Amino acid sequence: MPGTRNQMDRRNFLAKAAGFTGTAVLSSFWGTAQGVQFSAELASKENRNPTQLATDETYWEAIRKAFTVSEEIVNLNNGGASPQPKVVQDAVINYYRLANELPSYNLWRKIDGLREPLRTRLAALAGCKPTELAINRNATEGLETVIFGLPLKAGDEVVLCRYDYPSMIHAWDQRAHRDGIKLKWVELDVPMHSGKSIIDRYISAITPQTKLIHLTHIMNWTGQVIPVGKIGKLARKMGVEVMVDGAHSFSHIDFSVAKLHCDYFATSLHKWLCAPFGTGFLYVRESKISKLYPMYASLDPVGGEIQKFEHLGTRSLGTEMGIAEAIDFQEMIGMERKAARLNYLRMVWMDALKDTPGIRILTSNKPNMSAGMGLLDIEKLDPAELHNTLFNKHQFLVSPVNYHQARGIRVSPHIYTRINEMQRFIETIQKIAAR
Ligand SMILES: Cc1ncc(COP(=O)(O)O)c(C=O)c1O
Repeated sequence: MPGTRNQMDRRNFLAKAAGFTGTAVLSSFWGTAQGVQFSAELASKENRNPTQLATDETYWEAIRKAFTVSEEIVNLNNGGASPQPKVVQDAVINYYRLANELPSYNLWRKIDGLREPLRTRLAALAGCKPTELAINRNATEGLETVIFGLPLKAGDEVVLCRYDYPSMIHAWDQRAHRDGIKLKWVELDVPMHSGKSIIDRYISAITPQTKLIHLTHIMNWTGQVIPVGKIGKLARKMGVEVMVDGAHSFSHIDFSVAKLHCDYFATSLHKWLCAPFGTGFLYVRESKISKLYPMYASLDPVGGEIQKFEHLGTRSLGTEMGIAEAIDFQEMIGMERKAARLNYLRMVWMDALKDTPGIRILTSNKPNMSAGMGLLDIEKLDPAELHNTLFNKHQFLVSPVNYHQARGIRVSPHIYTRINEMQRFIETIQKIAAR
């Protein structure tokens, strides 16, 4: 029976869970009696579409049970770093133990032997070729590899925006300082409701000297989604390269890297994929690999092999291999369903609070302009004070934001968040705003 990519991923996963024959060195949770029962429970919902399933609390409660999150504090700062399902934690711990039995052999032969199958799986999830994907530690590493590795010279221009992630802005500032490249700043409002207006602002910043546009797919301050695919298509036609900071978009919204029309894309997998802390990947378009220098030298720095970006020295390789369990977990749910649930959780609190006096919502509610995260401001309260009140008095963890026009608390639930936790959050915010 044919189906969408998401349905096929899920069917593959469920078939695998029923008689697990994976390439892992260690036996998987999904092969245990508990794992089989858990996947059967989830498979019983297989025919429900993403919109129906987004509001099915029994399904998401089963997902919640796969996590080991605090029952005391409601974590609404998953955008910072997400927890891993227990199966992912167990995989990392087991690999760590295995490595300690015989480090040099088990790390570099046994565990690292799983790298190429993992690359293939991760590339399938990302929608690119395995030969274009380097596994690394985080988005910072991937993006700065590009920022520092590109052959740019004095006078070359790079287009970016004040709401890009500060570490990336600092990296570009450093390049401007050392090499004399010019930074051209696009002005964006908070929030932006029109994709067309965002596209126009980026494209009109291009000059004959522009070499690259730096785009943040989902802004960390506000959850604003940037139409990177459309900007990428236009910019590349004009001969300008495109780099995408996908720290917040990967495994959060449903897209494939190949369709973003970008040359470089980097993400952290410890955010929305719920993979081990300190995991990420860098995508480099095949034709661009040889011109991009790696951050840490390899035998052939101008070669065309993606592995040249993985010379990171000795590290806990089992952490990387734990990514495979996170992919299994994600495929069991399906990206479309996950994205629908995340969007639903944002809409629940945003719709309930949008007309409350004294509250400003600084994230667009328009289709495709936001996803699971949003920014909320109680005008009379300093964001740090609101954060402290929520944490100390009401047991909610959020992220305070006070950056240019972005002011308030960032709210980022995840797939394990219960609807009654969001309802208590809404009531708490209404009471604080009314004081
Ligand atoms: C937009 C954006 N880019 C890059 C990063 C860097 O991610 P990491 O610290 O995992 O490298 C973050 C982290 O929050 C981010 O929000």
